[in-house]
Amino acid sequence: MSQLLQQTEETVAYIRSKTGYKPEIAIVLGSGLGQLGEQLQHVDAINYKELPHWKSSTAPGHNGRLLFGLLDGKEVVCMQGRLHYYEGYSMEEITYPVRVMARLGVKNLLLSNAAGGINLDFAPGDLMLITDHINFMGKNPLMGPNEDAFGVRFCDMSYAYQPSLRKIALEAAQELGQNLQQGVYVATTGPSYETPAEIKMFRSWGASAVGMSTVPETIAANHCGINVLGISCITNMAAGILDQPLTEEEVLLTGEKSGAAFQALVTRIVRKL
Ligand code: HPA
Repeated sequence: MSQLLQQTEETVAYIRSKTGYKPEIAIVLGSGLGQLGEQLQHVDAINYKELPHWKSSTAPGHNGRLLFGLLDGKEVVCMQGRLHYYEGYSMEEITYPVRVMARLGVKNLLLSNAAGGINLDFAPGDLMLITDHINFMGKNPLMGPNEDAFGVRFCDMSYAYQPSLRKIALEAAQELGQNLQQGVYVATTGPSYETPAEIKMFRSWGASAVGMSTVPETIAANHCGINVLGISCITNMAAGILDQPLTEEEVLLTGEKSGAAFQALVTRIVRKL
């Protein structure tokens, strides 16, 4: 058994010793979107620090807890705080939770993030359904020996953001009377924000939003057969669009302001799964 597989089994065994929940839905909460975790009922919480082989998140607005509980009566596992490449972790480390979720029996993974709006029709506070992505991180989490127990060497990415889940998300937004934008997410490593020249280039490539996460987890999830749904909260217009600098405060504040709409949308999606 490979080291990765063995470690994953150890983490799963620890989780099993702490909770009886067996959720098929996992939710990763992005910057400023962590409050959804407070909506869960009958929660079993595990700190990342307790979990064997699982790294802790150091990013602002990220709690570092794995929550098992009920959302609208359905079993879910929530990552309140994610790991980022810019924190200095390896691609393997930041996608480790996805591998654990696969072994836990998760079938659908909802990835959320804060992102800068590249599409000029967007406004801060908008929610965007991710239709596809561009990996501009210069790394792929599947590099290195392939773990056959998880998936194949050359992983298909044609339907990286599951069309059937996207349909459910659009229906959920419509039922709530919410405007849900759609577009391509481009991922950079960060932690510096982009330059205006980079944003122009990304726009010419067809990207609508930019951020520093999600893509590695989406690749790892596709590799191990988990369906992905991605939702970006457009927390700011990307660099160079408005004549003002980008700040982390704006990102976190807008994320929190959109929190209620985000929570309503995710809850409705979970109900329909
Ligand atoms: N760029 C990259 N990541 C981000 C941004 C941005 O403008 N906003 C929130 N996360």
